[in-house]
Amino acid sequence: MDAELTVPEAVGVVHPARAAITRRVYVEAFGCQMNFLDGELAVSRLSDHGWARTADAEAADLILFNTCSIRDQSENRVWSRLGALRERKARDPGLLIGVMGCMAQREAAQILKRMPHVDLVCGTRRFQEMHRLVERAETEGQVLAVEVDGFVDVVRDVRIRPERHRAYVSVMRGCDHRCSYCIVPRTRGTQVDRPFDDVVSEVRRLSADGVREITLLGQNINTYGRYLPDRPTLGGVIRAVDQVPGIERIRFLTSNPMDIEDELLEAMAETPAAAGYLHFPAQHGHSDVLRRMYRGYSRERYLEVCETARRLCPGIELASDLIVGFPGETEEEFEATRSLMETVQFKQVYIFKYSPRPGTAAAEKLVDDVSDAVKRDRKNELLAVQERISIARNQRLVGTDVHVLVDGPSPRNAARLSGRAEGSHMVIFDGSEDLAGRFIRVRVERATAAALYGTLVPGSEH
Ligand code: SAH
Ligand code: F3S
Repeated sequence: MDAELTVPEAVGVVHPARAAITRRVYVEAFGCQMNFLDGELAVSRLSDHGWARTADAEAADLILFNTCSIRDQSENRVWSRLGALRERKARDPGLLIGVMGCMAQREAAQILKRMPHVDLVCGTRRFQEMHRLVERAETEGQVLAVEVDGFVDVVRDVRIRPERHRAYVSVMRGCDHRCSYCIVPRTRGTQVDRPFDDVVSEVRRLSADGVREITLLGQNINTYGRYLPDRPTLGGVIRAVDQVPGIERIRFLTSNPMDIEDELLEAMAETPAAAGYLHFPAQHGHSDVLRRMYRGYSRERYLEVCETARRLCPGIELASDLIVGFPGETEEEFEATRSLMETVQFKQVYIFKYSPRPGTAAAEKLVDDVSDAVKRDRKNELLAVQERISIARNQRLVGTDVHVLVDGPSPRNAARLSGRAEGSHMVIFDGSEDLAGRFIRVRVERATAAALYGTLVPGSEH
């Protein structure tokens, strides 16, 4: 049996009648979690119209790349992948090739011009029409759909998702900030919030289908609700999602520290399911650089938020994104990022070399004057700092019990199980495979920078 074609039965959910499966779509997402979710949502629409997902690009009738524009290399990767399909399309003219996501939005008609074998370019707010766009591409030839006005009405078959026990749910799209390095407001448009009840009802349907961990998504998620009539907040969504039976862990991405208010941290503190982990990108440790980035907060303000988060949610793990080599970054400014890492002691950081993006304020007004070699050295230096911090932080957990959502066999050693603790640590332990999707406690015995190793606490599963 073709595993890709089986759709698990939903529990207590009514779905529209499904057309017979006639064709296969291969979707590959690049970049952020929102792209992974949007790829799933596009497949969900297609699946109502006779399409099934395949993991094998060679067997696909439609190849869809869900693209990222955040750095130059993100786009280069897609250009070369598209180029590589030229020959296959010549061999198999019936094959459809589609590009969606941020690069589709940004490059738009350029993609169709540079890659004439591409059939369909679908912007960041049009993927819910994927079935119609594909039909048009078949009958009319190349299709360009990149308008960004308006709301994305999420129509979702909750059964179509890659992980049984975890799911992403979008709460808003777009961003009204203009951080000077960032292309996202141009590719994803201005902020549009999803109605509160839609979000909660999607979570209910997901939980009825076995989901236990929800990750709420938005480009600037802490300003959620500012455009809705009764001004709900992200804190309110967290409280409501926590009330949904079966949901035991709640994450959210991504938060601009400028907009983090105590109300959100208080909601996290009152909701143990959400209190273990907070990813809120600092981007830099020096207030002058933060000013050039138009981030809207200083180093001191950032540290204050970290302190409040730790006071209200004891044991919380903090994670961050950091950019090295922003225009004009001096050695002293770079050192401030290192010292921020030492001060905060993040659980995890994602470090990026600055990449000028066309049309952004930094690309237009500032000179990209830090050489690639210096950017690389600075990135490597920070990675080494974090490695040391991660080991020390993880070792503090040796001898304690952590609360783990079990994923299944460990990717590195299938004889063991792996899962994620409340602070988002990877945890490796022995146990039976049928624990997948359950919560358990693990007594930590050993820790590296990347993972915690321990023993299942008997009788702790639920
Ligand atoms: N919405 C998020 C940002 C999403 S982009 C926020 O508010 O912070 C993900 C990460 O990519 C950013 O946090 C940033 O660290 C990095 N990034 C964005 N633009 C970049 C650029 N031009 N060059 C290098 N890294 C960049
Ligand atoms: Fe980008 Fe800043 Fe918005 S990093 S997504 S412009 S908050």
